Amino acid sequence: MSITFTWLGHSTFTFDIDGHEVLIDPFLTGNPLAAVSPDDLNPELMLISHGHGDHVADAVSIAKRTGALVLSNPEIVGWLGRQKVPNVWGVNTGGTYDAGFVRVKWTIAFHSSSLPDGSYGGNPLGMILKANGMNLYFAGDTALFSDMQLIGDEGIDVAFLPIGDNFTMGIDDSIKAIHFIRPRFVVPMHYNTFPPIAQNGGDWANRVNSETDAQPLVLDPGGSYTLG
Ligand code: NI
Ligand code: MN
Repeated sequence: MSITFTWLGHSTFTFDIDGHEVLIDPFLTGNPLAAVSPDDLNPELMLISHGHGDHVADAVSIAKRTGALVLSNPEIVGWLGRQKVPNVWGVNTGGTYDAGFVRVKWTIAFHSSSLPDGSYGGNPLGMILKANGMNLYFAGDTALFSDMQLIGDEGIDVAFLPIGDNFTMGIDDSIKAIHFIRPRFVVPMHYNTFPPIAQNGGDWANRVNSETDAQPLVLDPGGSYTLG
């Protein structure tokens, strides 16, 4: 029983949960930090936080090739369906989807959401992956919000937080978010992909170490971490 997660650059992660592969927010084509090619991935479950191109770029091609079940809000699921993605299911904030090897609880996120064709992308989402007695919170693209305290009340083992600033919270607010969420580990994302979101991961980790009780995990693109 183990969970291994791998950062593929930006907000793209894979999770290996007892041999089941989950893919979040696939953005590899056009991502200068992409650690793999879309063709290298074979998820059985894909989770999408919101409709922006840097979160859905490779969703359609990977879903069609693999037949993976794709979960997202109704607007994004509708967009996927119009492109003949075969296996989709709509969720929304507050709900939990039980995929057997993992349960996914959908949270609020403060951001916007439009799709590559300009259509409305619904409300942006965060998510808590619940598997093997652990809770992993993927915040998506979001500002700091005080209800992160309620997410922390669930007992978060790992929090994945954006730190790039400009489009999401930056480093200062990520430290406040860690105080609200109280995770054991925290992983930075949505930074260094493009110049407007350049950040120094080492400086961020030093602040996490000195100002919070969480352990920072700064991954290189392609880097992994295994939870026992
Ligand atoms: Ni976005
Ligand atoms: Mn984004």
